Amino acid sequence: MFDDETQCVVLVGVQWGDEGKGKITDVLAEQATLVARYQGGANAGHTVLVGDEEEFILHLVPSGALYPDVRCLLGNGVVLDPWTLIDEIEMLTTRGVEIEHRVGVSRRAHLVLPYHKQLDGAKEASKGADRIGTTKRGIGPAYRDKISRNGLRVCDLADRDYCWNVVREGTSTANVFLAHFGVDERADPDAVMSELAAVTPRILALGTDTGAEIRTELAGGGRVLLEGAQGSLLDVDHGTYPFVTSSTTTAGGAAAGVGIGPTLIDEVLGVVKAYTTRVGAGPFPTELEGADADRLRNLGAEFGATTGRPRRPGWFDGVLVRHAAGVNGLTGLAVTKLDVLDSFDELLLGVGYELDGVATTGFPERAADIQRVRPVYEKEAGWESDTGACRSWDELPEAARHYLKRIESASKVPIRLVSVGSARSQIIRVG
Ligand code: GDP
Ligand code: IMO
Ligand code: MG
Repeated sequence: MFDDETQCVVLVGVQWGDEGKGKITDVLAEQATLVARYQGGANAGHTVLVGDEEEFILHLVPSGALYPDVRCLLGNGVVLDPWTLIDEIEMLTTRGVEIEHRVGVSRRAHLVLPYHKQLDGAKEASKGADRIGTTKRGIGPAYRDKISRNGLRVCDLADRDYCWNVVREGTSTANVFLAHFGVDERADPDAVMSELAAVTPRILALGTDTGAEIRTELAGGGRVLLEGAQGSLLDVDHGTYPFVTSSTTTAGGAAAGVGIGPTLIDEVLGVVKAYTTRVGAGPFPTELEGADADRLRNLGAEFGATTGRPRRPGWFDGVLVRHAAGVNGLTGLAVTKLDVLDSFDELLLGVGYELDGVATTGFPERAADIQRVRPVYEKEAGWESDTGACRSWDELPEAARHYLKRIESASKVPIRLVSVGSARSQIIRVG
C-alpha cells in the first residue's frame, strides 16, 4: 500500500464492523511509522495475531502497536475511556509489548466517564426489545456530551476546578436520565473525581497534538496509517440509522478526527469480509438464518471481540459495499476471511435490492425500508478447497478468483489485498 506516492492511508471497515481491520492494520503497520485511531472508543475490538497463536484484542490502542517502532496515537475524534486505556497499556506491557513511551492521546480528545457507561446501560435496558444492542462502553452518551458542549477533554484534566464543574453538571443531568430510565443507581460526582484523580497524571503525560505530530511525520517522509473502527454502515450519517454508533466511522471523519486536512490523505482502503456479519440490532438484508447461519458463524468464529456476543452472519452484499465505496471514496479493497468460505459448494452474492417489487437505486435511508428489501442474488460456484496456504493470486482456486472478481465488479473498487487466515503471513497482495 505504502510507496513513494502513498504516505498517508485511511483504513475503514466497509460493512458493520469486525471486518478484520485489526489484522489488515497489523499487516500494513509493518511499513508504517505512525498509526492513529481517529474516532470511536473502546466499543472497538480489533484482533491481531502475532506468530501462530499469540492473540491480542485491542480496544483503544491502535493495531500498529505490535511493531516496536511504530508511534501509536489516539486522535481528538476518539472518545477516550482513560481506565480502559491504562488497562490496555498494562496488558501490553505485561505481555512484553513496550508501548507507554510511544503511545499518545490528543489533548482535545473527549473522555468517557463512568456516568456515560451507566447511562448507556440504563438506556438500553429501558428500551427492551427496541434496543440498539450497544457495546455499553458509554459511547453514545460521551459523544452526546461532546456535541452538546458538556464534555471533559484530556487537556481539561490539568484544571481541577474546571473538571469539578463539568462532572457536577454531568452527574446531575445523568441522574435525571437514570431516574427516567427507571434504574436505582445514581452517578456520584465525588466518586468520579477521585477515580479521575487516580489516572490524571498518567493520561496528561500521554497528551499530545495529534494533528501537528502527523503533519510533521509526513513532512519528514514518514508513513501514516489512520485506523478506522466500526464499519461504514454503523456511521451516524451514512449507516442504518438509528442502528448505528454515534460517530463518523467513514473516511471523511479521518482528517477531522486526528487534526489534519483531507488533502494529506493519499489512499482509502476498505476492509471487507468475503461475506457479511453484524453484531447488535438493526436491518441486515442478506442475513442468513438457521443451520446456514450456524455454519458460517462457526466456520468464521463469529463472536464479538468486545462483548463476546454471537455475530449475525449473511451473504456478501454488493449494494451495501457500493454504498460504502461511494461514501468513503474507496481506492482499494482488502477482502478478508476468504478461507471461511472454503467448504461451501455454492455461494450467494447480493447484487441488488428490490423494495415492493421495484429495484432500488442506491442504499435506502430508512431502517424500516432496509428491513423490507429483498436482496437479488447471483449464484457463485464454491471452490471446496483450502485457501489458507495460498500466498499469491495465481495460487487461489479458479472459483475463488472468480468470486473475488465478482466482488470487485459489484463494488467497482479494485482488490489490493486478500486475507486467507488470521495470521500475519496469510495475506495475498494483488496487483
Ligand atoms: P476488526 O474489529 O475489524 O478488527 O475485526 P475483529 O478482530 O473484531 O474480528 C475479525 C476476526 O477475524 C478476528 O478474530 C481475526 O483474527 C479474524 N480474521 C481476520 N482475518 C481473517 C481471515 O482472513 N481469515 C480468518 N479465518 N479469520 C480472520
Ligand atoms: P470494531 O471496530 C461491530 C455496534 C454495536 C451496536 C452499535 C452501537 O471492532 O469493528 P455503540 O456501543 O457503538 O454505541 O453500539 O454499533 N458496534 C460494533 N459492531 N464492531 C465494532 O467495532 C462495533 N462498535 C460498535 O454492536 O450495534
Ligand atoms: Mg471488532
